[in-house]
Amino acid sequence: MSKKNGKNASSGNYEPRPEHKFSFGLWTLGNRGRDPFGDAVRPTFPPNDIVHVLGEIGAWGVNLHDNDLVPIDATPKERDKIVRDFRAACNESGVVVPMATVSLFFHPVFRDGAFTANDPEVRAYALQKTMRAMDLGAELGARIFVLWGGREGVETDACRPRADEAVKRLREAVNYLCQYNMAQKYGYRFALEAKPNEPRGDIYMATTGHYLGFIPTLDHPEMVGVNPEFAHETMAGLNFMHGVAQAWEAGKLFHIDLNDQYPGRYDQDLRFGSANPKSAFWLVKFLEDVAYDGPRHFDAHAYRTENCEGVTDFARGCMRTYLILKEKADRWNADREIQTILKEVSAASPSVPKNGRYSPTGAQTLLSHVFNKDAMMQKRLPYELLDQLTVDVLLGVR
Ligand code: NOJ
Ligand code: MG
Ligand code: MG
Repeated sequence: MSKKNGKNASSGNYEPRPEHKFSFGLWTLGNRGRDPFGDAVRPTFPPNDIVHVLGEIGAWGVNLHDNDLVPIDATPKERDKIVRDFRAACNESGVVVPMATVSLFFHPVFRDGAFTANDPEVRAYALQKTMRAMDLGAELGARIFVLWGGREGVETDACRPRADEAVKRLREAVNYLCQYNMAQKYGYRFALEAKPNEPRGDIYMATTGHYLGFIPTLDHPEMVGVNPEFAHETMAGLNFMHGVAQAWEAGKLFHIDLNDQYPGRYDQDLRFGSANPKSAFWLVKFLEDVAYDGPRHFDAHAYRTENCEGVTDFARGCMRTYLILKEKADRWNADREIQTILKEVSAASPSVPKNGRYSPTGAQTLLSHVFNKDAMMQKRLPYELLDQLTVDVLLGVR
């Protein structure tokens, strides 16, 4: 994307700044375009180079899985040098590490899952690997630790004694990691990331809502929240923003993965806002309206047809679209006609009995009130107009 596109003549400045808290995973810019049917199309993008590019294009943070940075079989000496050099690259580029995570899905040893695998040795290894990834993240300054259980699932339900056993194993693991967090005084907040399927046929904890039900059953629920991903909920045909809103309302929106996705397909991880700009608009509007102050993490990658230059275009595009939609959200909020309609559709007529908190007398009043349904039906709900005004804002004619 050329520099001239950074500015919009009519209004906004769409240059990302640190206060926007835009972050990318090493695995996103580093994605080499491999898919189940085809090999890599782009050369390896070394982590320290990724950090420099992120610094240049105005991103604020970089996230990583343990093995995005440190090869799984590195010696302690090799590990320490890699981490030292990476820290130096982050410092030089002015890029922070807000979030760390662990790969419990790439190595074949996790073919039957990690925390939920049948083999107790695999479960123990998964815990050890996660604790080491927590050590690594803490060393780099991360305060959010994401757990995505990509392999925590099945192809056939024959392979677990009972499905609720998997939930118990997962709980045991997260409880253990919370204890480790406290013992080490790392101060992490864990963010659990749901996905309905892929790479497993079915993954336990298929949606953010599943995790919101699971978290209160933990020993330290206050330490654990969610990391909803746009693509993952959209794969399940759900309204992503609604899941985010519920997480927010529960005080559990610890992190967010922004990308895009066409429903009913494999996990596409498309550039943010590229497939469903209207859904992306409602999401950005929600995050900005509630003043969410966590990282805006883009968990996506460039098209497989792209070369290295295209990877930078992709990354710039994610941030640019977010900022454009943020500007549109301001415009929507400031639009008199839109706000008047919103006010009118929620206004109550003076005769309506108040039904806030329950009280015996309030309940009696409500029970004895006679509702005039015909009159209620006279109230207009001009949602066609409201939506068209939204489309006008989005398409830039308003
Ligand atoms: C890779 C997955 O594709 C992504 O969705 C997830 O957020 C990260 N790993 C974290 O584990
Ligand atoms: Mg993700
Ligand atoms: Mg994804």
